[in-house]
Amino acid sequence: MGCNQCNQASPQEQLVLSLEPMTRAQVARHNKPNDCWLVIDDIVYNLSSYKDVHPGNPDMILRFAGKDATAPFREYGHSPYAVEQLFSLGAAVG
Ligand code: HEM
Repeated sequence: MGCNQCNQASPQEQLVLSLEPMTRAQVARHNKPNDCWLVIDDIVYNLSSYKDVHPGNPDMILRFAGKDATAPFREYGHSPYAVEQLFSLGAAVG
């Protein structure tokens, strides 16, 4: 669970750690609401929980489940706060 006071995701919960680089095909398997991974700038994020507190609603995240969301993330023009959230979500390099 993320923090329900401030909408902040819990870093522990979101961390996707991998010693081996992940392939896009592996990420693509995580394309369900409760198993929802996204790639942003070559980093893999598990947004299964964060999607529920995303200010842009879960659908925006689910649309890119298992996919690369780098361009849509940029195109929306997220605030520095959103980028900070992204860093706090934890990652695995792919
Ligand atoms: C880990 C990934 C993401 C994080 C941490 C994140 C975070 C946020 C945050 C904090 C906001 C509030 C406004 C702001 O501070 O900029 C926001 C709004 C929004 N986000 Fe995201 N976002 C993510 C991914 C996405 C993706 C992939 C999309 C797809 C286009 C998206 C679309 C939107 C939209 C449309 C809003 C505006 C909602 C509104 O104003 O009603 N976000 N996001």
